[in-house]
Amino acid sequence: MANSEVNKSRRRFLVGATSVVGAAGAAAIAAPFILSLTPSARALAAGAPVEINVSKIEKGQLIRVIWQGKPVWIVYRTDEMLSMLPSNDTKLKDPDSEVVSQQPMFAQNGYRSIKKEYLVLVGICTHLGCSPTFRPELAPADLGAEWKGGWYCPCHGSRFDLAGRVVKGSPAGTNLVVPPYYYKNDTTILVGESKGAA
Ligand code: FES
Repeated sequence: MANSEVNKSRRRFLVGATSVVGAAGAAAIAAPFILSLTPSARALAAGAPVEINVSKIEKGQLIRVIWQGKPVWIVYRTDEMLSMLPSNDTKLKDPDSEVVSQQPMFAQNGYRSIKKEYLVLVGICTHLGCSPTFRPELAPADLGAEWKGGWYCPCHGSRFDLAGRVVKGSPAGTNLVVPPYYYKNDTTILVGESKGAA
């Protein structure tokens, strides 16, 4: 095996090993962390809805919050990002979001969102639960000329577009999950409840 091949294999192993240690470490510290929270923080950790002011997010930026102990991403997609989504359709496993478990009804559209510019996703890979990396750039050398922005999972290489839809050939079988959410007003999203829900 050539030296560069050895290095690539080693890098892949290290990425996998780091992810596993990271998950075990998180589990180990979770209990004392939750015990030390204030009552309102404990409610959040237990799954209370999370309010997000989206007016502070810049175009093209992703922010992270935690809901029910899970990472949730909110991305302010640019017009350019949105205009490229339909051209991905033939390369996707579920371009029309037909797997109903992966999003509420309100997100079963081409943008997988209520307002097209703001995408809300649970940041957990639908293969084996790693957290994919946000790669919004166009055609970076490591992801190839066809890449139009999205997420790349470092664990086993699943790819998702900028609507969280899984690319054919990925080990992940389904699109990233859109959690329940609604707009309390023009600039405030509540993640964890759909409109009209108790
Ligand atoms: S956990 Fe993401 S590709 Fe396997």
